[in-house]
Amino acid sequence: MSIKNSAPMRNTQILSVGAFRPARVVPNSELVERIDSSDEWIQQRTGIATRHWAGADESLADMAVEASKIAIKRAGLTAADIDTVIFATITYPYQTPSASTEVALRLGIENSAAFDINAACAGFCYSVGVASDMVRSGTSTYALVIGAEKISDFLDLDDRATSFIFADGAGAVVIGPSDHVGIGKTMMGSDVSNREAISMVPSWLDYKPGANLAQTSWPVIHQEGQKVFRWAVYEIAKVGKEIIADSGLTPDEIAAFIPHQANERIIDSLAKSMELPESVAIARDIRTTGNTSAASVPLAMDALLAERPELHGKNALLLGFGAGLVYAGQVVELPPVPKK
Ligand SMILES: CC(C)(COP(=O)(O)OP(=O)(O)OC[C@H]1O[C@@H](n2cnc3c(N)ncnc32)[C@H](O)[C@@H]1OP(=O)(O)O)[C@@H](O)C(=O)NCCC(=O)NCCS
Repeated sequence: MSIKNSAPMRNTQILSVGAFRPARVVPNSELVERIDSSDEWIQQRTGIATRHWAGADESLADMAVEASKIAIKRAGLTAADIDTVIFATITYPYQTPSASTEVALRLGIENSAAFDINAACAGFCYSVGVASDMVRSGTSTYALVIGAEKISDFLDLDDRATSFIFADGAGAVVIGPSDHVGIGKTMMGSDVSNREAISMVPSWLDYKPGANLAQTSWPVIHQEGQKVFRWAVYEIAKVGKEIIADSGLTPDEIAAFIPHQANERIIDSLAKSMELPESVAIARDIRTTGNTSAASVPLAMDALLAERPELHGKNALLLGFGAGLVYAGQVVELPPVPKK
């Protein structure tokens, strides 16, 4: 007897996007003294002018819940419709239970699949791929995909390579069935030989068997800036080109490019190397949001659609890359004008 799979394969699309940015805006001027830097240097090297940091009483889950509520409402759905919650993050401070279960509980989503994905700044694009494949195969009908971070809890404010780069926020999308291809094949990959180029320090890698974990210090994010920069500029441009080619579209059929908001110079270099035409709208949310790791692509998507509403329903290249080193991306149709 052969196994019967009751679920027919179907197409998928992003139905909506929601975003939450903490109220506190942190200008470069607040950070420069401790790292002997300047507003001008930071803006020139990264494009970042301001970023949002959550308050002490504002948790990662608080932000994720707010972004999710908006995404679910804009999809014209309720919590009862969601059967999968995927949470991409590297800053949930508990190993288990997962951040996705906290959000599901607080939103009143019952009996859903719920799990977290740790793929750092590529986490949202990984999660979109997983959710789309779940909906496509019938494992799920409506999947809530969250990318959220409270990186300010894991920053060393005296570190000249990170303190001004990272920031907090949450973005979410709902992925559901579609009558056409709204999400292309996701390309996922890694360069694990460079896995320590960005990492939390101390990390599990530092712990020898028998070490007293209770005596270790709170981890902070560390990066080898130039190594990450070179990898992103040279390797990720090739990935972006491959994703576009695989989607069957030509670069001039892409309306928007929404890369991980790592550094504005990386964004510019990727767009140039991929030979994206002038007509392609490029997300530059980094200027006022900083690098929010897994939250950056949905936050940038939300901001771009608010600024350029004519992009609703148009094709966009999403591209995430970061610690691991890992990357993922896909061509998607941007969500339609919200139902509510
Ligand atoms: C972090 C980053 C901005 C640093 O810029 P950089 O040009 O690589 O800086 P370097 O470490 O090579 O230092 C260059 C000069 O700037 C100085 N410098 C370094 N950090 C500085 C800071 N925060 N403020 C002012 N000057 C700084 C150095 O002292 C050095 O000065 P010198 O030329 O007089 O010796 C850059 O490497 C970067 O953005 N990398 C990618 C990071 C990223 O995107 N991470 C997320 C990926 S998910």
